Amino acid sequence: MLEGKVVNLKVIEKEDLPLTVEWVNNPEFFGVYNPLIQQSKTEMEKRYDKLPPEEKWFFIEKKDGSKVGGISHFPAGKLLEIGYFLIPSERSKGYCTEAVRIMVDYLFLSKEIVRIQAHIDPRNIASQKIVEKAGFEKEGTIRKSFFAKGEWRDMILYSILREEWKEPKILTKS
Ligand SMILES: CC(C)(COP(=O)(O)OP(=O)(O)OC[C@H]1O[C@@H](n2cnc3c(N)ncnc32)[C@H](O)[C@@H]1OP(=O)(O)O)[C@@H](O)C(=O)NCCC(=O)NCCS
Repeated sequence: MLEGKVVNLKVIEKEDLPLTVEWVNNPEFFGVYNPLIQQSKTEMEKRYDKLPPEEKWFFIEKKDGSKVGGISHFPAGKLLEIGYFLIPSERSKGYCTEAVRIMVDYLFLSKEIVRIQAHIDPRNIASQKIVEKAGFEKEGTIRKSFFAKGEWRDMILYSILREEWKEPKILTKS
C-alpha cells in the first residue's frame, strides 16, 4: 500500500479483476478522449497473468477504503509510462492529482529510471493540469499518433526527469 494524505494506492490483485472489468467496459470511465476498451473477465485475467515486471495496476482508494479509480505504470519501449482514471462521481476533488504524485515518488524511489512519461490528448485539460502539478514538462505534440473513435488523434508527450523530481513529495524512503 502506498499512502498519501487523501488517497492511497493499492495493488490490484487477481481477485479484484471483476471490479476492474466492470470499470473498463463502462465508456464513461475512460472518458471522451481515450479509446473504448471492451474486455471480458477471461481476457482481463489472461492479460493480468502475462503482465511484464514494468507494468503494475493500482486502485486509487480514499482513506475510508472506497475505490475511486485506477492508476498504472507500463513499459513504452525501454521507458516507463503512466495512465490513470477516476470514476465520474469522484472527479474534480483532487484525488488523481495526489495519486500521480504518489506514483511518481514510488517509481523514482523503487526503480532505476531516469524519466516517467505520459501521453495526453490536447483536449484533456484536467489530465494536463494533473501532470503539470506533479512536475511534468510538456515535450511536444505527436501528431496523428493513434486512431480512436473514428479519427486520427494528436497526443501531447509529457515527462518528468529524475533530476527535476529531486526528492519524494509524499512518500518517504522507508
Ligand atoms: C483526467 C481525470 C483523471 C481528472 O480527474 P479530476 O479528479 O477531475 O482531476 P482533479 O480534480 O485533480 O483536477 C485537475 C485540474 O483540472 C481541472 N479540471 C477538471 N476538469 C476539467 C475540465 N473539464 N476542463 C478544464 N479543467 C478541468 C480541475 O479544476 C483541476 O484544476 P486546478 O488544479 O487548477 O484546480 C478524470 O477526468 C478522468 O478520469 N478522465 C477520464 C480518463 C482520462 O482522461 N485519464 C487520463 C488519460 S491521459
